[in-house]
Amino acid sequence: MKKLEQLYEGKAKKVFATEDPNVVIVDYKDDATAFNGLKKGTIAGKGVINNKMSNFMMRRLEEAGVPTHYIEQLSDRETAVKKVTILPLEVIVRNISAGSFAKHYGVKEGIVFDEPTIEFSYKNDDLGDPLLNAYHAVALKLATWEEIELVKKYTFMVNDFLKSYLKGIGIDLVDFKIEFGKTADGQIVLADEISPDTCRLWDEKTHEKLDKDRFRRDMGQVEDAYQEVMRRLMGE
Ligand code: TMP
Repeated sequence: MKKLEQLYEGKAKKVFATEDPNVVIVDYKDDATAFNGLKKGTIAGKGVINNKMSNFMMRRLEEAGVPTHYIEQLSDRETAVKKVTILPLEVIVRNISAGSFAKHYGVKEGIVFDEPTIEFSYKNDDLGDPLLNAYHAVALKLATWEEIELVKKYTFMVNDFLKSYLKGIGIDLVDFKIEFGKTADGQIVLADEISPDTCRLWDEKTHEKLDKDRFRRDMGQVEDAYQEVMRRLMGE
């Protein structure tokens, strides 16, 4: 499959056209940003890890009945995916308190919830990705009720799968953010990525952070944390 013109460059990935109008190639970068691009840096080897981990999870999620954009991994950093229109909604699930939840509600990090929570934010950098509820999303025509119901159903399936898979390699899935897209024929599929950039991953015993919070919070050993997740997942 040949890369044609670049269609888009985001904070962590580039997207290229291919000869097939329904297929694009995603190219993962080592660039890292936080706080809506205010903090910038590089995490060496991150692009390779995020590409491989995301593909690893998407293949298994397909088997578990969640449709995804994944088609084929082309190289360490490149993957062919279905061309989609991204729904401008970030879907966030939390199993344990952390991050903005702990801050908003004035609680400590690490409270294990009896049931997962779900929330949406409006994917809009100019507005700083504000939180919104399903009624707001429908009012703003970001999605229909049917799409939101499907997104919720798939999102909890993703949580069930990821949580139990990661537990098997000694990692607690604290929270994560996913995005969905719509294909040319109108199907809603899981898109974007599943990686230590988009999940909070804590070692189940030591509670050591194995994710992008090490970069966001200047904790050091960022590359080591990404490598450790990769090693546990794939022995690499
Ligand atoms: P939060 O606690 O900062 O709201 O983050 C919740 C989850 O979403 C966490 O796993 C990190 C992820 N996330 C992203 O993937 N992209 C973002 O821009 C932000 C703010 C969070």
